[in-house]
Amino acid sequence: MTPDSLVDSRQIALPDAAATLALGRRLGAVLERGDVVCLAGNLGAGKTTLARGAIEAWTGKQREEVPSPTFTLVQTYEGGRGELWHVDLYRLKRPDEAWELGLEDAFVDAACLIEWPERLEGALPKNRLDVALTPEGEGRRAALKAHGAWRAKLGSI
Ligand SMILES: Nc1ncnc2c1ncn2[C@@H]1O[C@H](COP(=O)(O)OP(=O)(O)OP(=O)(O)O)[C@@H](O)[C@H]1O
Ligand SMILES: [Mg+2]
Repeated sequence: MTPDSLVDSRQIALPDAAATLALGRRLGAVLERGDVVCLAGNLGAGKTTLARGAIEAWTGKQREEVPSPTFTLVQTYEGGRGELWHVDLYRLKRPDEAWELGLEDAFVDAACLIEWPERLEGALPKNRLDVALTPEGEGRRAALKAHGAWRAKLGSI
């Protein structure tokens, strides 16, 4: 566990899906290789919507949909800043499977968006941004927690 003194937090209200997409775009605009973003939240919380915004900002292309990597576990995208990994660990049976995919190298060489990060049972990099999406009325609330080097970027999202 990271001590609380090394974590900065922010809460953002997301009244509709467009707001989730816009937060994803802002996030994608500040992403760099070596960045890890964990997207937590129940089924239908908005994780893939947020990922779609980030993928659009990373690749510079608007998309109607992004394929959910629920079965393939990973979908990769090329952008001007390198490779982006969109990872969905919902169907992961044991953390070992993720390492077999090459996730550990991707943590360093690519930018990573990870849905269902809890499947890794805590084997996550120390420098990362945790985004937790929860229902709020008809919309959602995003709780952002920046660990380590991410704290410097939290204000710019
Ligand atoms: N802030 C929001 N307010 C209302 N609806 C939203 C919001 N953000 C996303 N949605 C909607 O919620 C639905 C589910 O979104 P999404 O597929 O992104 O969730 P998910 O967390 O990836 O779900 P799953 O775990 O099933 O993959 C979509 O119809 C999306 O448009
Ligand atoms: Mg999803």
